Formats: sequence, C-alpha cells, structure tokens
Amino acid sequence: MAHDLRWPQAPAIYQIYPRSFADSNGDGIGDLPGITSRLEHVAGLGVDAIWLSSIYASPWQDGGYDVSDHRAVHPTLGTMDDFDALVDRAHDLGLRVILDQVLNHTSCEHPWFLAALAGDEAMAGRYLFRDARPDGTQPNNWISQFGPPAWTWAHQRSQFYFHQFLACQPSLDLRHPEVKAAHREQMRFWRARGVDGFRFDAASSYLWDEALTDNPVAPDEIRKKNTGEIFNPFTFQHHLHDMLPDDAATYATTLREWAGEDAWLMGEMTEGVRSYELAMEFSTPGRLDAAYTTDLPANCAGPVAIADLLRRADPARIVGWLSSHDQPRHGSGDFAQAAFLAALMAVLPGPWLIYQGEEWGLPQPGLAKDEVTDPFDLLYWPDGPGREGARVPMPWNADDPEFGFTAGRPWLPMRWNRADLLAAVSVSGLAATYRDLIHLRRKQGWASGRVLISDHGDDWLTLAMQTGCGCLNAWFAWPGATLKPPDASDAVFAHGQRGDYQVVLRHDDTKRT
Ligand code: NOJ
Ligand code: CA
Repeated sequence: MAHDLRWPQAPAIYQIYPRSFADSNGDGIGDLPGITSRLEHVAGLGVDAIWLSSIYASPWQDGGYDVSDHRAVHPTLGTMDDFDALVDRAHDLGLRVILDQVLNHTSCEHPWFLAALAGDEAMAGRYLFRDARPDGTQPNNWISQFGPPAWTWAHQRSQFYFHQFLACQPSLDLRHPEVKAAHREQMRFWRARGVDGFRFDAASSYLWDEALTDNPVAPDEIRKKNTGEIFNPFTFQHHLHDMLPDDAATYATTLREWAGEDAWLMGEMTEGVRSYELAMEFSTPGRLDAAYTTDLPANCAGPVAIADLLRRADPARIVGWLSSHDQPRHGSGDFAQAAFLAALMAVLPGPWLIYQGEEWGLPQPGLAKDEVTDPFDLLYWPDGPGREGARVPMPWNADDPEFGFTAGRPWLPMRWNRADLLAAVSVSGLAATYRDLIHLRRKQGWASGRVLISDHGDDWLTLAMQTGCGCLNAWFAWPGATLKPPDASDAVFAHGQRGDYQVVLRHDDTKRT
C-alpha cells in the first residue's frame, strides 16, 4: 500500500543515532543497513518520521557533527546505495526521513579548512580567521559552547580561528556566498535522494556580529536563567554578539527556500536564556516548522518548566522531547514515571521527538572513564553531563549476549537490565503504552491541539485543550502532589491510579472552567 507521505501537523519523530542503532556487519558499530533492518519496529510505534543524526563522512571527533564531506555517507555507516535503500524502506513503511544539516561548522579535516591552513585565502574566507591581539591573546572574549575559548591558534597561518564547539569544528561564515551556495546545493542533493525534512544543528549559532564585539558579562538574572552547567563558563556571558537573534532568524527564510516548501524543518536552539524567544523567531511562517530547546529535558518536563514554555512560546512550534544523543536519558528505571512523561509529551501540542530506546524505558548507563570516547564528556569528567551514556547501543534482544545489536563487540559496553527489557516489550509494557499514546495523539487530534487553560503547582499540572475531538482535559500529578486527579472511569487515557505519577486524560464536549 502506498502511504501518503505529506507531512501531518506536529509529527511524532523517532530519533536514530546511527552508530548505536543496529550493526549489520559485526564491526560493533551501527550502520545504515542495520537501521533499515529495524525500521519495522519504529513504524510499529506509529510515528510519522525518523530523524537520522549525522550520517556524513567525518573523523567522528564529535560523533559525526564534525563533517568532512556533507554529501557523502560515512564509510563505516555504509554506502549511498545503503542510504537509498533505507529511504525506500522508510517510505514503504510510511515513515518520512529527516536528515541532520550541520551547516554551522565543518570538521578541521574538511578540504576547505585544510586548504585554508595551507594558505588558500579564498578558503580561509569561508571561516573566521583573525590575527591575535598585540599581546598574543585571542581576538575577543567569546567562549565555546563546550567551555574553553572559542578561538584556537592555527600556527600554519599565524592566526586564530573561531569555533563555537570543539576546536576540531571550525565555524563557517554562513554569510559567505560560496558557503551559502554549497549549503544550498547539498540540501538539494539530499532532497533529490528522497529526504523529506531537515534538522538544523546549532541553528542559533549561525551568525555572529562581524565587528566581533566582546560579549558582556551575564547579569545575575540572565545567569540564573542560563541552562548550561554552572561549571561551564559559557554561562557567564550574555551571548549578544556570538549568537545574533535577528539576522540568524531571518536566515531561516533562506533555509526554507533551499529546502523547499514541502520539507519539514526543525532547528536546534542552544542559547540557554532566550531559547524560546529565538525558537519563535526561527519558526514564524515561511521559516522553519518548529524548533527545539533544552529547557524541557533540563527540567525533566516539570510543571514549572511546562508553564514557562506555555507562557513564553507557542507550543505548536516547540518540539517536545526529553532525551537525545546529547542529553542523558530521562529513564530512571521507573516505568511508571516513564509512562507518565510519555503521556505528558503526547498531550503537549507540537511535534514530539522520541529518542531511540526511550520506548523501552532505557535508563542512562554509567560508563567508566576509559570507556568514554566523547571529548566533551572527558573535558569535565566525571562532572559533565555524560553525553555518551545516551549513545550506548540499542538492546534489541534480551537473550542475546550483545543484545542483538551486533555479532561483534559493541563500540560502547552494553550492560542493560535484561529483566527490565522483557517487561518493557511485554503486552502491556512501556512500549505498548508509547504505541497507544502515539495513536491516540493523532486520532484524537491532540497533536494539533490548542491550550485553552493551564494551571500548575510545584507538583501538578492541568491543561484544557481544544483538539480535533472537542475539549481534552488533562490532569498530571507528580509523586506526593496536593492535587488529586478526578475519577478515571471515563478517561481516554489514565495511568498510575494506584500510585505516584498519576495521569487522567478525558475528552469533554465543553471546556473545563
Ligand atoms: C548539537 C549536536 O546535537 C551535538 O551532538 C554536537 O556536539 C553540537 N551540536 C555541535 O555540532
Ligand atoms: Ca557496522
């Protein structure tokens, strides 16, 4: 049966981190044929699309977000034929395909950067190289989002270059005509191969103040709001000059032109203080469809965080999510909590992003220092956010020594709890709850709902939403909440009635007052 692959409003999207999804050839690293072989599981959840984290050629110093060829598949992940087969299979299963676009920077092994280091001035112009100040220090006070200075000395040119992430990720000048042309063509290249949408990596970092003005110190009220880790000095600054809201948001119109009107587009906003405001600017009509920020996961979608989202943004344009390849898994081993949070994400209007394995309630695995390969984790070891734990491969089969992920040795150790996995996939396990919620969300029109009323305390939240099927009244009570949800007998979905983490979702003809 041919599926209608036009985009629904507020899609449910399943994020796949390719190195960690499924390995087809026993080298211990997930790959594209592995993904293709497991897409039935994803389609079985009822989601609308998959988002593949970076699949491009890369030295993998930043897990694929250090791209050395934006139009080539990483050879360890497979070939272009494998990619085409993956897209075909996804489409056959009714899944749209979203690819990452890492436009903000390249790998330091990208041919442009290598040429720039070798003295090619035209290529150097595609990045931001600057002389040192007379005292030999960096051109200004900008700090990388990973903490250290955003400038690294390139002795080959006797100049500093700018990078907003690792030193091996030189930032591109996205105003440069040839950079723009290359980005436009690469997006067209992937669209012509059947790609249905893009996720724009680090979109809030795209443009900077060309005068290279120092960022001011973050005033207390701003610093308090910074969502970054307090040990990372990035939060000490107010990022007025290295993350320009106005220009950068206008750039989204250009992205839309390049991607095409029928593409579904989401942008990543990593500026901790104005994230929702930037997200709104990036997603006005004619720009991106939605944006995501780290506010919800950073606060595990608590009632205060949800209220803040509803106050500051149109939730229809904010992606609801809790875990990713960057964010420690929100699973705590408590399925009751996991189902509760899934219901909350399902009810919020706007797109819903589900990270591979959260449908099984996978918790964040611990890794020893000598097992970790992510330089960001190692920079702050053992106090950092621990990104790599979330990248521990997927356990497909509780009975298999390597959990059905690989016939070889997985690139990160897999120490999943086998009994929990069996429980998660049982008839009424967590995976079935995800399936039900994804189905209800679309069928009952929650995905395109509009919040009419919301109220909250520290441990409870209520919502009244206009949906495709009338009014949805939702009660969420965290453990020990003072609010008791009403009787669940006529609920469309209820959970946790005999314990903590209670949800009642009820459709009423009239709105709750
Ligand atoms: C966000 C990506 O998700 C993350 O993995 C990466 O390190 C940074 N952007 C830089 O590309
Ligand atoms: Ca492999």
